[in-house]
Parts: sequence; C-alpha cells; structure tokens
Amino acid sequence: MRPACEDYGLLCAQIKEVAANQPHWISALANVASLLAMSLDDVNWVGFYVLGSLLDPALPADELIVGPFSGNVACSRIPFSKGVCGTAALEDRTLLVDDVHSFRGHIACDAASASEIVVPLHADGRVIGVLDIDSPHIARFAAADRQGLENVAHTLEESLQI
Ligand code: SME
Repeated sequence: MRPACEDYGLLCAQIKEVAANQPHWISALANVASLLAMSLDDVNWVGFYVLGSLLDPALPADELIVGPFSGNVACSRIPFSKGVCGTAALEDRTLLVDDVHSFRGHIACDAASASEIVVPLHADGRVIGVLDIDSPHIARFAAADRQGLENVAHTLEESLQI
C-alpha cells in the first residue's frame, strides 16, 4: 500500500523513536533508510548522500558521498550541481522528477529507476546531505509525498545530533 499523506505522520513518529535509540547519526540514517524502504510502495532505492567533509575534513566540502541506503550498488560521489542529488543540494530545494530520463544530467545508478525525489537535509542552517528515493514507475511521487518526505527530513534534522 502506498502511504496516504497522514501515514507520513506515523513514519515521522517511528523515525523519532529510531533516532532516539541510536548511538550515532549514521546508525540512525541506516535504520531510517530501511524503515522508508520497507514502508513505501513502488520504490527501488532509498538512501542518503551526505557532505563528504562531514565525515572526513580531507574530503571536498562541495561533494556528496553515498551514505546509508537500501537498494542496488550506487555511485559513491556526486559533486554539488551534478545529477538530481547535486542539483537539489546546490539549490537547496526538493526536486520531484516525474521522468528521470527527461532530467538533464540525471545520474543513472539503477537502470530500472524511472522517477525520483530528492529532499535536502540541513544542520546549522546549511545543506549537509540529501534524502534520495527512486521508483521504477514514472511519476510515482505526488505533492503529498513531497510534503510527507519534507516532514521526514525536518524530523531527522530535529532528532539527529549532526
Ligand atoms: N539519480 C541520482 C543518483 C543517485 S541514485 O539515484 C541512487 C542523481 O541523479 O543524482
């Protein structure tokens, strides 16, 4: 069953519980990626890309690296401005792409992906990563998913010690 808008409220409550019981924010994101993948219908990749410099100051501050996820092996590094993830991070806005093949610069990690939503995550007023979800179906994500997943992102921002 695809969650109705109000079901994201339940997901947010579950995410708060998950986050409260993890020793580290990476552990929390790992369990949140699993929770989302198990809860959302018609998705083939759910995960996080995080600012490389957050994990290692030697890594570039304008590049995302793959974090906890559920799905096929994914590309490891995405510069800000590249792909859907890098564009969402650079422009600091949610990107809802009905057909990834029509998005100029889309990075195809899984050939099965047809639509995608990317929501930025923040700490101390700056983008520190993105939540990325792919679906094998065109136009899988609606306005209710955008709102619900932005609520998920806000819940993570409030719950995690990043
Ligand atoms: N499609 C993304 C790359 C990440 S994968 O979807 C897991 C993009 O264009 O940024």
